[in-house]
Amino acid sequence: MSFITVDQEKCNQDGICVAECPTHIIRMDSKEDYPTPTPDFNDVCLKCGHCVAVCPTGALSLDWLSPKDCNSIKQELIVTPEQAEQFLCGRRSIRVFKEKRVPRTILEKLLEIACCAPSAKNQQPWHWVVVQEPAEVRRLAGMVIDWMRMIIQNSPEAAEAMGFTRAVVSWDEGYERICRGAPHVIVAHADKDWGFGSEDCTLALSLLDLYATSIGLGACWGGYFYKAVNAYAPLSKALGLPSDHLAFGAIMVGYPKFKYQRIPIRNRPRATWK
Ligand SMILES: Cc1cc2nc3c(=O)[nH]c(=O)nc-3n(C[C@H](O)[C@H](O)[C@H](O)COP(=O)(O)O)c2cc1C
Repeated sequence: MSFITVDQEKCNQDGICVAECPTHIIRMDSKEDYPTPTPDFNDVCLKCGHCVAVCPTGALSLDWLSPKDCNSIKQELIVTPEQAEQFLCGRRSIRVFKEKRVPRTILEKLLEIACCAPSAKNQQPWHWVVVQEPAEVRRLAGMVIDWMRMIIQNSPEAAEAMGFTRAVVSWDEGYERICRGAPHVIVAHADKDWGFGSEDCTLALSLLDLYATSIGLGACWGGYFYKAVNAYAPLSKALGLPSDHLAFGAIMVGYPKFKYQRIPIRNRPRATWK
């Protein structure tokens, strides 16, 4: 059974779908031919939808995706290079939040956008835990501190190198460095045996971070938090992670209390040009 349908009335036989298919499983043997799937199509297709997305005439459909299912790319919404530069370089890790919850519909939208990230073999391996309750975020941050106290006791040098002592001292003084008092935390996790879980989840969280910024939210990676999820079983259990999954990133989200005015300078690219 073929998974491709080509509307021959619409197809202009330009071969773009053939050229763009990442796994080369669409072919046209001559210019008079129409795109057809190779015999291994069903086994090899990544389900990336590029063939449908790229066709200028909307002639090609897959059994799970037709041009009508896809949002069009609106020319008037394409960002200018100046807008992109300010937006990308002006994003900041936000660590001071208003005491205001983000509505669930907005948190859902963040996840939707995150799921548009690239992923190796289009596996989209990410799963999410969204901690919605600010009190629960605080409780989980306390569990990270419990874990840190354990490490400080068992391997004081390692704990010092990783900044755990400072984090614990801050906590005891009433300053929460783990989730920074954010109202929500989002954890990305994936099957530990998938070789690109780290890269895929990081990219998804990065889109989430950028989109959050674009809608006036603030976000900050929770490095301590997700490392603790993988190292401290009570925390992983509290989040309900499956036993064969690892957390590959966590991000705090909320409304920023303050507005940044300037873009700080970063290191110049350390590139070798060959
Ligand atoms: C993997 C990773 C882990 C991080 N962990 C934390 C963290 O636990 N707490 C925190 O406040 N910031 C954390 N950050 C934010 C960095 O400190 C921040 O990106 C860096 O200082 C640069 O600032 P900017 O993001 O505003 O450019 C983390 C960032 C990354 C990429």
